[in-house]
Amino acid sequence: MAKEKILVTGGAGYIGSHTVVELVEASYEPIIVDNFSNSEESALKGIESILGREVVCHRIDCNDANALRGVFEQEQDIKGVIHFAAYKAVGESVAEPLKYYQNNVGSLVTLLQVMEERKVYNLVFSSSCTVYGIPDKLPVTEQTPVQKANSPYGNTKKMCEEILTDLATSGSNVKSIALRYFNPIGAHPSAKIGELPLGVPNNLVPFITQTAAGIREQLTIFGNDYDTADGTCIRDYIHVVDLAKAHVTAVARLLEGKAESIEFYNVGTGTGNTVLEAVQAFEKATGEKLNYKIGPRRVGDVPKIYADVTRATEVLGFRTTSTLEEAMKSAWDWQLSLQKEPAKV
Ligand SMILES: NC(=O)c1ccc[n+]([C@@H]2O[C@H](COP(=O)([O-])OP(=O)(O)OC[C@H]3O[C@@H](n4cnc5c(N)ncnc54)[C@H](O)[C@@H]3O)[C@@H](O)[C@H]2O)c1
Repeated sequence: MAKEKILVTGGAGYIGSHTVVELVEASYEPIIVDNFSNSEESALKGIESILGREVVCHRIDCNDANALRGVFEQEQDIKGVIHFAAYKAVGESVAEPLKYYQNNVGSLVTLLQVMEERKVYNLVFSSSCTVYGIPDKLPVTEQTPVQKANSPYGNTKKMCEEILTDLATSGSNVKSIALRYFNPIGAHPSAKIGELPLGVPNNLVPFITQTAAGIREQLTIFGNDYDTADGTCIRDYIHVVDLAKAHVTAVARLLEGKAESIEFYNVGTGTGNTVLEAVQAFEKATGEKLNYKIGPRRVGDVPKIYADVTRATEVLGFRTTSTLEEAMKSAWDWQLSLQKEPAKV
């Protein structure tokens, strides 16, 4: 039987590349679309090396409706779409908001228009726990009120969720599952794909691994006077492979026709860890000593957030399998594999 084709926008990126691997493992046929604005061709090589086969990739921009139409035309019979493609740097979004609204909101609208034209009605969307802002109560459930975003990036995720909700209300045939990611970390156990920040990393774990590798001099932890056990911020760190698998179950739910017109799920571990605990987990898992200092608080940081994952567990059958230390070890193995390549600084 022909495998069901799933279009994966941003499939050469960090979470997308891991999801492409899991889709193939689950017997789907992923079709990647990426403009490589924040990824490199080497990600495709990594995916292919893990899978031992080639994957299809169209180098196009998701804002280009005609190019997207061409992909649907060429591939025929695409059953669903996972839309990862977006910009994600919070600080950059404050400096260049229009770039973020154009790419993140614009590409979703374009994609949805083309999906409706082509009668492709199943969408998994990359959302974020950023939609909860600074929550009053922890852990956050899907019923926790969505708050005013504290950056243009966060606002794009909120707006995209609203667009999907409006579309559902309109009676469109498109059904969407928005996965609200917490903090994805780690890399594939093969160390052939992982997070590949171009330039100075915005996220904690690549900064940790680059510091341990000597690419960065020192990690700064932003604030240790928050109302937490050790004063540093609390996050819910989820292994990227566990997160990738959640996309596969979400796709299956859509393709089996079980989903409502729009559904939201938290995808985290359900456990909060402080930034210092994350650093200690890295040190324990790798035996590396990390050079870090405590700096002032960073404007816009949410003091603490972690997920209630009951809904994803009960409806999607979602499970996490990796510990924080295992995730840190995989991130370190990935960093070491990159050392063999020219440094990307
Ligand atoms: N990594 C996180 O911490 C995190 C947390 C919450 C949500 N998300 C969301 O998950 C998604 C994937 O994140 P990631 O960490 O894998 O990011 P990433 O930057 O590694 O991957 C995004 C990919 O999309 C591509 N892309 C961007 N704009 C495009 C366009 N217009 N057309 C075609 N390709 C385009 C990039 O080249 C890149 O390969 C994003 O939507 C992001 O906002 C990420």
